[in-house]
Amino acid sequence: MSSLRIEGGRRLSGSVVVSGAKNSALKLMAASLLAQGRTLLTNVPRIADVFTMIDVVSHVGANVDFVGNVMAIDVPAELRSEAPYELVHRMRASVNVLGPLLARQGHARVAMPGGCNIGSRPIDLHEEALGRMGVSFHFDHGYLEGVAPTLNGRRIALEYPSRGATENVLTAATLARGRTVIDNAAREPDIVDLARFLNQMGAKVTGAGTPTIEIEGVGWLAPATYRVPSDPIEAGSLALAALATRGEVELIGAMPHEIEVFLAKLSASGAQWWATPAGVVVSIARRPTAVDFATLPYPGFPTDLQAQMIAYLCTAEGTSIVTENLFESRFAHLAELGRMGADLRVEGHQAVVRGVPRLEGAPVLAHDLRGGVALIIAALGAEGVSEVHDIHHVERGYEDLPGKLRALGAEVDASGWGDAAMPGSPWGREEQESPWGREEVNVPEAPSYHPR
Ligand code: UD1
Repeated sequence: MSSLRIEGGRRLSGSVVVSGAKNSALKLMAASLLAQGRTLLTNVPRIADVFTMIDVVSHVGANVDFVGNVMAIDVPAELRSEAPYELVHRMRASVNVLGPLLARQGHARVAMPGGCNIGSRPIDLHEEALGRMGVSFHFDHGYLEGVAPTLNGRRIALEYPSRGATENVLTAATLARGRTVIDNAAREPDIVDLARFLNQMGAKVTGAGTPTIEIEGVGWLAPATYRVPSDPIEAGSLALAALATRGEVELIGAMPHEIEVFLAKLSASGAQWWATPAGVVVSIARRPTAVDFATLPYPGFPTDLQAQMIAYLCTAEGTSIVTENLFESRFAHLAELGRMGADLRVEGHQAVVRGVPRLEGAPVLAHDLRGGVALIIAALGAEGVSEVHDIHHVERGYEDLPGKLRALGAEVDASGWGDAAMPGSPWGREEQESPWGREEVNVPEAPSYHPR
């Protein structure tokens, strides 16, 4: 079982490079299926979710080379239009192949998604929006099957600004007949990046980053080269790790305009932050003060930083009220934080965090990706030794987190942190530890990754 042993109380300091954004890389990989030929992505994080997406795009027919942080995706003329259960249940973002497959093949069969244990996550909005463009869907033994002899541009108002639904409509619309307008679209930075990437491929997308996105369908797209931007959620997580230890850290590559509301809450808690030519520095010299916050779609406070922010606020002076508006089960980490001495209570979709002077190291269990990293943040600031178990959840989204924390002065021993997520590992015949078990992989001598 993978775990991290952390000796808390070491003040973090120095500089750390923020890796490429998980949620951008996954969408760009799926969108590469829209064009026949070789797409090149750089700054791709070596994390378990990226390896799952390699399996997904390989399954539909692409060939992927992944060396260091550079990925080449060769997409054939004909794709297999299925994303099977074994892959989709590992990661919800697999559903992002739905739009590209419908656009290229006129058919897609995608298993109903899994993902983090953070609540029910239906795909009704995807289905409804794509249905308006001419896709007929039916459910078949756990699979959603869509058929669209032609995709037609439409004006589509999303009931809620779902990121996944916005992305699937956006990718499908690039090759649809005529003009598509998405109202109430998601505005996250990864949507803006996806639109930039699509435009580089020859698509005609305007308005990404605003609530209205317009897409003029084109006949075909060409492969492109694109750099994955730095990960705003990793930047925020590392910032909170530094602040939980009352440290000062420069986050190289962090873009403050992408995490404005989050940074404003840090200021309200008594922390300082400032932009540098390379990124952002965060610093705090004393115990933070409590702050209230509520998660909302971008540009609101990101739900993907809620758990980590709570870990930081556990030792604030005063009581913080946290409202989770996106996912109903996103407080699983609170019971584990309680094992470290935190004073927490959940009432419906709100958490009441009464600050205590310090946390104590304890054995704890990660239940999901962001909750898992929250426990690591708490352990870094706690007195004594903690063991964070089931960190395979954390490997889904954080490139070499133990190494980054050690470089900042943390005392961290990683046991079983997946080789799959480590730079340079998949060459030669070797055993790879992956979140879905230890297995023998036969890796070719050439620097390329092939699906198992
Ligand atoms: C993405 C992110 C995830 C983040 C979430 C919210 C990726 C790979 N994942 O997930 O890290 O936590 O945004 O910022 O980018 N919903 C429906 N019906 C649908 C679609 C969504 O009811 O058809 C609901 C969901 O249950 C949830 C909310 O809408 O309550 C947000 O979902 P959405 O924005 O679609 O999130 P994801 O794209 O799944």
